[in-house]
Amino acid sequence: MLRFVGISILTFGLSFPTIVRAAPYPQPVRARHTMVVTAEREATHVGFAVLRAGGNAVDAAVAVGYALAVTDPCCGNLGGGGFMIYRPAHGTARFLDFREVAPRAARADLYLNRQGQLIPGSSLYSWKAIGVPGTVAGLELARRLWGTWSRARLIAPAIRLAQSGFVLTPGDVRLFDDDAGRLAQDPHAVRVFFSHGHPLGVGVRLRQPTLAKTLERIARGGARAFYAGSIGRAIVAASRRHGGILTRADFLDYRPVVTHPLRCRYRGVDVITAPPPGGGATLCEMLDILKGYPLGRYGFHSVRSVHFITEAMRFAYADRNTFLGDPAYVHMPLRRLLSRAYARSIRHRIAPMRATPSSEVRPGVSLNPEGHDTTQYSIVDRWGNAVSVTYTLNTFFGTGFMAPHTGFFLNNEMDDFTTAPGHPNAYALVQGAANDIAPGKRPLSSMTPTIATRGGHLLIITGSPGGSTITTTVLQVILNLVDYHLGAAAAVDAPRFHMQWEPDQIDYEPGAFSAQTMDLLRRSGYRLHAGSPWGSRYWGDAETVIVTPSGWLEGVNDVRYPAGLAQGN
Ligand code: GLY
Repeated sequence: MLRFVGISILTFGLSFPTIVRAAPYPQPVRARHTMVVTAEREATHVGFAVLRAGGNAVDAAVAVGYALAVTDPCCGNLGGGGFMIYRPAHGTARFLDFREVAPRAARADLYLNRQGQLIPGSSLYSWKAIGVPGTVAGLELARRLWGTWSRARLIAPAIRLAQSGFVLTPGDVRLFDDDAGRLAQDPHAVRVFFSHGHPLGVGVRLRQPTLAKTLERIARGGARAFYAGSIGRAIVAASRRHGGILTRADFLDYRPVVTHPLRCRYRGVDVITAPPPGGGATLCEMLDILKGYPLGRYGFHSVRSVHFITEAMRFAYADRNTFLGDPAYVHMPLRRLLSRAYARSIRHRIAPMRATPSSEVRPGVSLNPEGHDTTQYSIVDRWGNAVSVTYTLNTFFGTGFMAPHTGFFLNNEMDDFTTAPGHPNAYALVQGAANDIAPGKRPLSSMTPTIATRGGHLLIITGSPGGSTITTTVLQVILNLVDYHLGAAAAVDAPRFHMQWEPDQIDYEPGAFSAQTMDLLRRSGYRLHAGSPWGSRYWGDAETVIVTPSGWLEGVNDVRYPAGLAQGN
């Protein structure tokens, strides 16, 4: 069914006719009691089956986490890490950080040659690019703290999918095709994802017996099987053979962290999100700045709205790239970055309708002296417990390397650190010393799993993959609902735009702006760039649940990822 989205173009002093555009967004899935939305349909079925059989949202999240490692190998993972926001229906919301950490032998100059220059590809596609994985420890901790089912019961569907396989659809294989050249470099990956020299195609059944054995080991031995047992040992041995720096001690040391989420308030909506090293501080800073502008009155993607949103992104990313890092290693001026006075001081610096050159934006300028591919899933259970998880291998399939006898890809999350001063990472982010590499440190992330409530009631469960565009994707889902009152599907599916301080440009998806809007933006000093800042054609899929005022759960599988599914009852 088609949805029709009214898009009103209001401009500064000029008036254009309202443009009404037919957007072929599918209707959300509506349900009364439970909802699971993931980027891959088999994993959604797994989560839904858990909920239907009486498991809670965390049980479903753990089962989905393991299932995606099988059915969505670009992004779902055992060899990466991520974040979870858990908001129980009764009690206190929690943040679970199972981000990868730098190995003990990692130093700030790990990827530099003797001349102090970055060794090309070393932080992305070498065995030195691998951070100590956190996913298994994270999923296990979530299950123990907040779940109700046994580990074996939650991993069983993933084992079944790995053993019996599942039939590939066009949505599944598009990424294998895109990354075929890189995956072809690893003999273990070739055995799983290639047949007669070609990546597996549509209609083929993907079976992963080695991965099934790994999952069986985890089901029997838990996180210990991964970190202290044969799985970790296989990774360390492969790392050593290929010039990596991972050791047994790195695996034995790994601990996920449970802490308080970051909270901010936007037009009566309480936002519960990922604190550093996650992207929530940047999300909240943008929302704080944008409170001062009547975006709803300006209109969805009107020139004025785009201007102020872009400027909020610019200032908040300047601060992100300069001040933020792992809170266990760096002191961050979060209180002031998220203060009303600071938001006001930024608004004073934003001209009514003129782009601020990024070169003139000094991060934290008005602070007084003191006194960082990925997949998202969102779940609500029948009791109202909600979970938002974003976890990642960094780029699609991470390093593209598998250790022998493991069957899963290893991350290249080390590239999320500041790998060389002034050098952009895979997501074109130029970051600072706060995010320098240090042993045991977590790289700064853009992942922003987020739950929003209004008047104490669940409103939005969202998050996204998409590297540096993650945080601005979450921002736009919120703005689309709160300011522009778009329906659930339009709020998620509408084309987006992005700005990250450097490069000084507005990146946009096809269809984001009318020709007039683009013309006016250019005349206001903006440089427009079609596509993501790093040239990818993929924009993040914000797999989202929205709760309507009458209590319906609306699950939206982002139109950008047709392999996904929303399912509820
Ligand atoms: N690896 C992408 C991020 O964590 O931001």
